[in-house]
This record gives sequence, C-alpha cells and structure tokens, in this order.
Amino acid sequence: MCGIVGCKGVDNIKEFLIEGLKELEYRGYDSAGIGVIDKEDLKVIKAVGKLVNLERKLKNVKFIDPKVGIGHTRWATHGKPTEINAHPHRGEFSAVVHNGIIENYQEIKRFLQEKNIEFISQTDTEVIVRLFEYYYEGDSFEAFKKVLDRIDGAYAILLITKKEPQKIFFAKKGSPLIVANNNDKFFFASSDAPLIGYASAACYLEDGEFGYVDDKIHLFKDNKEVSLNLKPLPTNKESAKKGGFRFYMEKEIYEQADVLKENTLGRNTKEGIKFDELDKEFFEGINNIIISACGTSYHAGLVGKYLLERDAKIRTNAEVASELRYRNPLLTKDTLFIVISQSGETADTLETLKMAKRAGLKTLALCNVDNSSIVREADKTILLRAGIEKGVASTKAFATQVMTLWMLSNYLSNKNEYEAINEAIEVTKVDGALHEKIKRLSKRYLHGHGFFYIGRDIFYPLALEGALKLKEISYIHAEGYPAGEMKHGPIALADPELFVVALLSKNILFEKTKSNIEELSSRDATILTISSEYIDMTDDFIKIKETSHPMVEFFEMMVITQLLALEVAIRRGNDVDMPRNLAKSVTVE
Ligand code: F6R
Repeated sequence: MCGIVGCKGVDNIKEFLIEGLKELEYRGYDSAGIGVIDKEDLKVIKAVGKLVNLERKLKNVKFIDPKVGIGHTRWATHGKPTEINAHPHRGEFSAVVHNGIIENYQEIKRFLQEKNIEFISQTDTEVIVRLFEYYYEGDSFEAFKKVLDRIDGAYAILLITKKEPQKIFFAKKGSPLIVANNNDKFFFASSDAPLIGYASAACYLEDGEFGYVDDKIHLFKDNKEVSLNLKPLPTNKESAKKGGFRFYMEKEIYEQADVLKENTLGRNTKEGIKFDELDKEFFEGINNIIISACGTSYHAGLVGKYLLERDAKIRTNAEVASELRYRNPLLTKDTLFIVISQSGETADTLETLKMAKRAGLKTLALCNVDNSSIVREADKTILLRAGIEKGVASTKAFATQVMTLWMLSNYLSNKNEYEAINEAIEVTKVDGALHEKIKRLSKRYLHGHGFFYIGRDIFYPLALEGALKLKEISYIHAEGYPAGEMKHGPIALADPELFVVALLSKNILFEKTKSNIEELSSRDATILTISSEYIDMTDDFIKIKETSHPMVEFFEMMVITQLLALEVAIRRGNDVDMPRNLAKSVTVE
C-alpha cells in the first residue's frame, strides 16, 4: 500500500522526504519518487524498486532553494510498477502524490483527452494533476477545489505547483493523511512514523477535510475554514509502526475493515461487481474451476469452492498445491485454473500454475504482490490490495482472499450483494469490549489436550483456518473438522480437557450443527460457541450480530477466531509475529 510524505521549510528537504519514506517502507511498495519546487523550478525524481535506487539518483541532484517537497512510495494497482507510473505525477507546472483510487478516472481522462490533453501514465492519479492544470485560471486553491468536486473515490492527496511555490495543497477522503507543524516548518505523512522527532503533535485529518499550507495550515471542511484538532504524536517509532499494538498480527487484525474497503473499492458497486482486470469473454467455455493454493490461502480457496459452485453454478474444486502438483490430475481445457497466494512466491502454488499453463488452461491469480512470480506467470490477476502483511500468520490477506472470491462468485453469477458485502466489512471492525472478553476467556484455554474447531458449509473452511491460526502461534494442537464428521471418529477424544470452538451459523444448517455440539457436550467436552443465538449446552459463548447473510457471520467469526489465537499465544509468552519454524514466504517445496 502506498505511502505519502510532504514538507515545507525543513532544513534538509531530501533527508526528510527519503527518511520519511523509509519509515513507510514496511507497508510495501514497488517504486518511489519525490517532487520539489526548487526556486522557480519543479524537479521530479523517481525510481523503480527499493528506495536505495531513488537515493542513488538523488545523489546527483542539488537543490538550490527548495521551497516545498512531496514524496511517495507506490504499490501498483492501476498500471505496472514502472518509473512512468510512479508518483509524483507531473503536468506542465504542478505535481501530485496520491493514495487511494480515483473511481471515475477513466471518464475524467476521456474528458481531458477530448480537449487534447495528453496522458503519459496508466494511473488513475495522473488525472488529478491534469485536471488541476485544466481548471487553473490564476487561483491554485480554486482549481484544487474544483478537482476535489470532480473526483470520486478514496484519496489522500498532496499537490505542489510552480504557480505558488510556497504552498502545499492537501485533501483527505478514505485514505489517511496527517499534517503537523513545528513553528514555520510543516510536515505531511500518511501515517505518523515519519513525523516523529519533527513535531510533538499532529492533526489526523478527517474525511472531507482539505486545504493548504503557506505560513500556516489552512484547513477546510464543507467549504468552511475549521480549526485543527491536534493530538500528541507517539514518541517511539517502532511502536508507531505497529500503531501502538503489541504485535503486527494484532495491528493487521484491526486493519481488516480498512483493507477490505480498499479490496472492494471500485469493485463492489451498487450496479454489481466490476473487475477492471477481467472481461466476461475470459470465462467463455469454462465449465470447471480448480483452485490451487497452500495453507491459509487454500482455506480461502475452499470457501471459494462453496460460493462458486452454489452461486455461479460452476463445478469447483479446491486443491492443496503440493498434492495437486504430483498426482497427474486430469486437466481439461474447459477448466479455469485459479491460484491464490498472499506472497505470489509459494513454490508449490507456482508450480501448479505452470503445470496448468502447460496443459493449455486459462489461469487467474488472486495475489497480494504485484510483479511476483505468480502474477507474472498467470494470464490474469486480481490484486488483493491487503498491503504488506508482516505477521507470519496470515490474517488480513485471508480476509481479502475470501472477499475477492465472494466478489468473483457474484461477478460470475450476476448476483448483486452490494449491501451484504458492506455489512461484512463493517463487522470486521474490532469491538474493544469483545477483544477484552476474548482476552479474559483465553486464560481458560491454555492447557488441555487440544482443540477442535467445528463448522459446516463455509464455516468448515473457517474452522480449518481458525485451528491453523491457533496452532501456528500458540503451538497447541488444533484441528478443524466438519461438524458432522465428529461422530465418525474424533468424538472419541471428547472429555473435559478437549476444547471445542463451535462456529454455529444461524443461516446455514443451524439445527444440525447444534446437534453436533450437543453430541460433544454430552461427552463433557469444553465448548466455546460463536453464534448469534445462545445455546444451553455451551460452556462459553461469544455472541455475534444477527444477520440474514452467512458471509456476514463468516467475517465476524473470522475476527473472533483470530483474536482468540492471538490472546492464547500472548498468554503463553510466544512471539506472535515470528512463530517458531515458520517463514512468511515459502519459496521451497
Ligand atoms: C498461515 C500462512 C500460510 C500461507 C501459505 C501460503 O498463516 O500464512 O499457511 O497461507 O504458506 O502462502 P501464500 O499465500 O503466500 O502462497
């Protein structure tokens, strides 16, 4: 996910911009750039890849009288990670950096092209600077406001222009942006780490706020000037990167609602699902789908199997890549081969993708890392837009994988579940009281001889995922089981020291799952039920919201299972972000 910095009046502009971007590196990026108004000149320097490449280029750049500067790290969404697509984007006399997505950029681009305005990048961002210059008639702020009126979508924007070399124009809607000052020095960043040490307090802008900086910060909302709401900045950079959370995994669990918004932006629309990266012809002649993935991504694939087969009526199988790879599967050309991978580098998944391509199948990747091996290999890719995931145990990437599969099944079945998708995003917001309850509950689940997570239908893959999360970071044995399978063997393990996490949906097979829980309860297993309806025979109960859509239940239960694993692991004193024996990207067989 992209990062933004900006400044005015600092002693060493290069240092602030580069060091600031370094603080945002952890968010992941594939190109970077800065733009500076130097005396009367606008200088834009960009480089593909890591920040060292940009630093190398900047060694030969001398600023004479730098006034204002902006910087950006870009995580490609619209257009490949090239130098042209990197930010800042410049026009004739201005430059812009932007996080988020301009949803109506194609319509604006067409409008400007009809006026013979040329575009050089494939990005949505370029329309901001072109539109600004189109509207400019001697008053930069007026032109900037017109731009904001015209663009739809999510954004954090910084814009500088030679027309007013002492100003930085800014706006925020849906993507974070922070502004701070220290006497006559002004700073911007998309998260607070770059500002630490430069200012003691900052204004975390709210959606709809915009303005400019000259010798003070002018902040507006609804076209009225408003006052700054300053909050103290944290003093510790490492904890700032973790956003004050104890572990990256915890931060990533909390980030899920934002990440899912990003994932569905421009895709989940009132008119139905849109994927810029797909066209309906791609699916012509497809009668089967095989989904290939490993670990958590495989669990997402299993959810996809239920959704795609039920809604899109296409026979779908989810396969563990390391198995599929060596079993000489029957691959027919009417099969769409989908691979799911957070990293895009998982060796087994990649090899199955190559195998499918050799067999002449159409291939589609659901992946979080653009330009990764899997993305390069697949015919088409839907990027997950989860941002970099630091915790080894996957959380937010899983959320975006499931959401993308849900949207894909809507796309293929022409089903419109716009409202339900938004409701599902909403329930992933972590409720502080719920987290507290899980923290307290976790102390009762530290011993015993293991866990069973049980569920039916889409809650079965969630049971597998809940169990995997727990074992990865707590090192306690846990298994996911289809609830109906318990009586075919595993129930032999039931006693008070067996912990069962029951995922009890109100919308899918409620009575049947309830009976399965009863079977376990009558054998004295210790049961934690997660449901919107309370049941008597449970030891512990976590209530979720009532809803008529099982996917909404799914996403709320997902967060609860993640928090439970986290709290059990923390109580056991484990390093949640770096569990023993595990690596984030498994590039070996
Ligand atoms: C578990 C986890 C792993 C990965 C698996 C595949 O929390 O993260 O099970 O899901 O190694 O990795 P990707 O998705 O990068 O292909």
